[in-house]
Amino acid sequence: MFLIWIASVFACSTADFTLLVPDGSVSAQLGSSAVMPCGVSPPSNAETFEVRWYRNSYNSPVLLYKDLKVEESIGDSQYRGRASLVGDLQKGNVSLKLMNIVVADMGTYVCYVKSVTWYEQAGLNLTVKALGSSPLLSLAEAGDQLNVTCASDGWLPKPTLTWRDKEGNKLTPNHIIYRHDSEGLVSVSSWLLVSPSESEWISCSVGSSDQEIKEARVIPYKGIWRDAFVSTLVLSLIIIITLTVLLLLIRQGLLPHCSSRKNAGAADDFHESTKEETCPLKGSSTESPVAPVNAEERVKTWNKLKTQKKVKLTVDPTTLHEPICGQLNRTEDSFPQVLSKEGFSSGQKYWEVLVDQKKSKKSWCVGVTQKPPSKKTLTALCYEEGSGIYTSTNPRTTIPAEEHFTTLGLLLDFQHKTLSFYNVDKGAHLHTFKMKITSKSKYFAVISPGTKDTFPVSFHK
Ligand SMILES: *[C@@H]1O[C@H](CO)[C@@H](O)[C@H](O)[C@H]1NC(C)=O
Ligand SMILES: *[C@@H]1O[C@H](CO)[C@@H](O)[C@H](O)[C@H]1NC(C)=O
Ligand SMILES: *[C@@H]1O[C@H](CO)[C@@H](O)[C@H](O)[C@H]1NC(C)=O
Repeated sequence: MFLIWIASVFACSTADFTLLVPDGSVSAQLGSSAVMPCGVSPPSNAETFEVRWYRNSYNSPVLLYKDLKVEESIGDSQYRGRASLVGDLQKGNVSLKLMNIVVADMGTYVCYVKSVTWYEQAGLNLTVKALGSSPLLSLAEAGDQLNVTCASDGWLPKPTLTWRDKEGNKLTPNHIIYRHDSEGLVSVSSWLLVSPSESEWISCSVGSSDQEIKEARVIPYKGIWRDAFVSTLVLSLIIIITLTVLLLLIRQGLLPHCSSRKNAGAADDFHESTKEETCPLKGSSTESPVAPVNAEERVKTWNKLKTQKKVKLTVDPTTLHEPICGQLNRTEDSFPQVLSKEGFSSGQKYWEVLVDQKKSKKSWCVGVTQKPPSKKTLTALCYEEGSGIYTSTNPRTTIPAEEHFTTLGLLLDFQHKTLSFYNVDKGAHLHTFKMKITSKSKYFAVISPGTKDTFPVSFHK
């Protein structure tokens, strides 16, 4: 009796153990690996134990360690080659490592450990997270308003989508729609009707509180060329009417102070006056604040510079294929690029880039950068089919503009610390960046054809 009692006490005191699974939950990024901790307590050598990790079925384990080795052929084929024991078995560490995590790996895992005389099991949960794409904003006209759509995909868990105005106030969207894709990831889209604006951007941010939040911005500006065209038309009409009235008045001798400046009544006057803005025209032009002043002015400055100060740039072949633009994009080197030999640090510099001679290019990226090129000093406009024209900033701003044109004009202005982009074909201003220029800053032009097609991008000779 006594011996039996001694034996059982001895057996219990050596075999009895519990399992420790800190926190009971593990989260991992999609595609990465995760360690699910599990340890024998008090620590004892587990080399001779059976260690079984399973999910739903005990008989189809994720991993089975038995008879001093991992059983390779048995178990759930979904995990073959992805599961291993990473801990020090001698110290009772039976943690499971899972590689190349997929959405289907999400769930409860059981850590089961058995010695000759004892077994114990403990569960823990694996959650999988995925960081989705940057939101893509698009604009469509809807009557007097604009329909702004925001879409982003590849998220896990389900993200939240928030619209904000420039001041940071939340805007209420008309719809938020969630969808699950075939991989189990969540995509979200939403649209909002807004009044057109020239300067008030709105932003759409997508993300979940415990992950990165991605944001994109857009200025809901109704068709730049159409507005420019309408304002030019209105302005022209006003000029013509004013001049007709002026000519009539001059004919009748009612405007001596103005005619003293010019030869009144001469046929040439019409052209002269349109160019020079004579007195009556100045008066009447205050009635026509139609044009978007900034854009107008920028186009004017540009018109002056493009003829007088155009600089001819040459490619510096030693800078070829350093993919800094690539960091703008998820796929690393989709913007291989090259810098100009010439660098600028003062004045106003204007140059042109042939971005899309066939009007069918699928990607390009053009701007300025410092040397050595880095994402921090890169200021550029990029185009990708499907994404439209957007800024190199983070968050990116989508520029609502015609996507295909031949020549892009760039004006780097060190006095105003701005970099402006123009659609040369249409004579339209596209975007102006404010730059953080210091006295030491030297900028080089940068061009990239992207990798979506083989058409070149080059400096205009
Ligand atoms: C793990 O998930 C299951 C089912 O979703 C839940 O009942 C349990 O409480 C979770 N355990 C922990 C530790 O979070
Ligand atoms: C078990 O091993 C894993 C992987 O080496 C380690 O991360 C974990 O901290 C270990 N746990 C203990 C309790 O030592
Ligand atoms: C706005 O655009 C979305 C698609 O992006 C469309 O489903 C929706 O009906 C549009 N709304 C209006 C009012 O046009």
